[in-house]
Amino acid sequence: MWPYPRIVAHRGGGKLAPENTLLAMQCGLQYGFRGVEFDVMLSKDGVPVLMHDPEFGRTVAGKGNVADSTAAQLLMMDAGSWFDPRFSNVKVPDYESIFRYCYQHGIWMNVEIKPVPGHEEETGHVVAQATARMLKELQNEPQTSATLSSPVVRSPLFSSFSFTALTCAKQSAPEIARGYLLDEYECNWLSSLEKLEARALHTNHKYLTTTWAKEIKAAGYGLFCYTVNEIERAREILSWGVDGFCTDRLDLIPPDLA
Ligand code: G3P
Ligand code: MG
Repeated sequence: MWPYPRIVAHRGGGKLAPENTLLAMQCGLQYGFRGVEFDVMLSKDGVPVLMHDPEFGRTVAGKGNVADSTAAQLLMMDAGSWFDPRFSNVKVPDYESIFRYCYQHGIWMNVEIKPVPGHEEETGHVVAQATARMLKELQNEPQTSATLSSPVVRSPLFSSFSFTALTCAKQSAPEIARGYLLDEYECNWLSSLEKLEARALHTNHKYLTTTWAKEIKAAGYGLFCYTVNEIERAREILSWGVDGFCTDRLDLIPPDLA
């Protein structure tokens, strides 16, 4: 059974807001999404921040990369102008502030651990430890009407293309669910899920077949797809038994799509 929201806002606000920012999470919520996916990597000094690309140039201007920049440098960077010059005050956020925002606003999180190449182990451990610590702290705070009712959904699900990062996340916080990301079919998918004690397989809907979907479900795993931006395709994969997917088209695909 899939206890999480079925339709999730990719990178926070999909195509409607600068990705992986607080504004994106607010946008997802405004459109009625109670689940978000976002990407986390480590700064030079080991602080988890929301960022998709290891190198600057697309969502933040200039030359350089995340692994060579301190958190203090990254958190000052403009992550909004690339999307719209009106958003030049939107900064790169640290994971902790976004985690707290989502938790407190009743937004389930699919935290994609996206290590800079060569930093897989450290990223898996640090993100998992930070998450376990924050969950503990937040559970002691009074619940509000926004707090998600089930403890399972208050806890995020880690996903990663990095088997190593997920293995380290499992070591550091075994109680937090894991989903293994595969861009396309790999013959050893089942043994990877078993080794990771994963809850789900996450894959690119473009390469999913009905046969593979049936095998994943028959093996007892959740099945989550990225990134589905057409309503007919969404209905098709849901009919194959897909449990959930993320979308960039918050304006086209309603969060409660039947
Ligand atoms: O987690 C699903 C999806 O976000 C993976 O691809 O490149 O958008 O992080 P990417
Ligand atoms: Mg992602």
